[in-house]
Amino acid sequence: MADIYLDNAATSFPKAPGVSRAVAEVIDHLGTSPGRGSYRLALQAGRLLFDIRETVADFFGIADASRVVFTSGATEALNLALFGLLQPGDRVITSSMEHNAVLRPLHALQQRGIEVVRVPADASGLVAAHDIRAAATQGTKRTRMVALTHAANVTGTIQPIEELGPWCRAEGILLLVDAAQSAGLLPIDVEAQGIDLLAVPGHKNLLGPAGTGFLYVREGLQPRPLNFGGTGGDSTSPLPPEELPERLESGTVNLPGLAGLRAGLLYLQSRGLQAVRRHKAALLEQVLSGLKRLDGVRIYGPGEAACHAGVVSINLAGRDPAEIGYRLDADFGICVRTGLHCAPEAHRTIGSFPDGTVRISPGLFNTSADIDTLLQALHVLAKG
Ligand code: ALA
Repeated sequence: MADIYLDNAATSFPKAPGVSRAVAEVIDHLGTSPGRGSYRLALQAGRLLFDIRETVADFFGIADASRVVFTSGATEALNLALFGLLQPGDRVITSSMEHNAVLRPLHALQQRGIEVVRVPADASGLVAAHDIRAAATQGTKRTRMVALTHAANVTGTIQPIEELGPWCRAEGILLLVDAAQSAGLLPIDVEAQGIDLLAVPGHKNLLGPAGTGFLYVREGLQPRPLNFGGTGGDSTSPLPPEELPERLESGTVNLPGLAGLRAGLLYLQSRGLQAVRRHKAALLEQVLSGLKRLDGVRIYGPGEAACHAGVVSINLAGRDPAEIGYRLDADFGICVRTGLHCAPEAHRTIGSFPDGTVRISPGLFNTSADIDTLLQALHVLAKG
């Protein structure tokens, strides 16, 4: 029985063709540290890193590639944005649909005197833009930042980033977008959408390896580094450099992983983002319409494919999601993630706390036959 992988919201699998080759190529044939030496191989590594940064910038409408700071993933990017820019006395607005990658840094910051206002989403996981605006402008205290997921990892609900971006810009409030589930799936153009800070993992919809990701930092912002260390230049100074990306990239970057990430981006570009989105939307539509025909299945989230970014959460009436996940794997070779998905408040919001849900997240390489198998398996499991 071949496994059917439907946990692409956790990480995409398989990766795009060419990704592992690009990683191996750097390890086997380049193998040097970019920005750390002046011999030819090191310069070649530096050029490759420059090209990767340009490819990433181009993909997300970032005019100046030096504002792309490579990180180990979205979690580090979010920590960098939050710890790097918020100070005691600031107020930050967030939502009840956030992942622990936002919740936990904000909890830590709350204990350092930062006010955190969590705006509740509705039962489908949607956060209303007017609720964010109202929270951000209540009272006399100035709001420094809105920190919001672009698409919730539990339900896939797409949040109104495009509506909030221009408003935040006009109000002088920073907009930090957690694009963990959306980058590589939903259109993102930081300039057009008014995004000041964009946290992106390389290993989900961008089809790159784990251990890659980046934070986009809008020009004019100067976050404090999370890590202090060597940056390859001005070694006599005890201070980190002022310039980005070096200021925020102490230590040796993960060049093999980033080369793999670029291969993922180039693959997506070669398939065409619209075609990628069409394929995933068709799979999701098949999942949703099939689920709606099954008795005893509760679907969380908006329920319409156009409003879900690649993810659907369900439960079978009276059944423990962990058991359903186990049976899908053991009896049918289907991989899904169950439980709370590192997002307890999101589950409280949609009414599935504390057991959570069964989360189905098809990827670019799944087929309609995979979804048929899933639906047949759920049909069997729903009967008992
Ligand atoms: N954040 C990832 C998920 O939702 C790991 O599964």
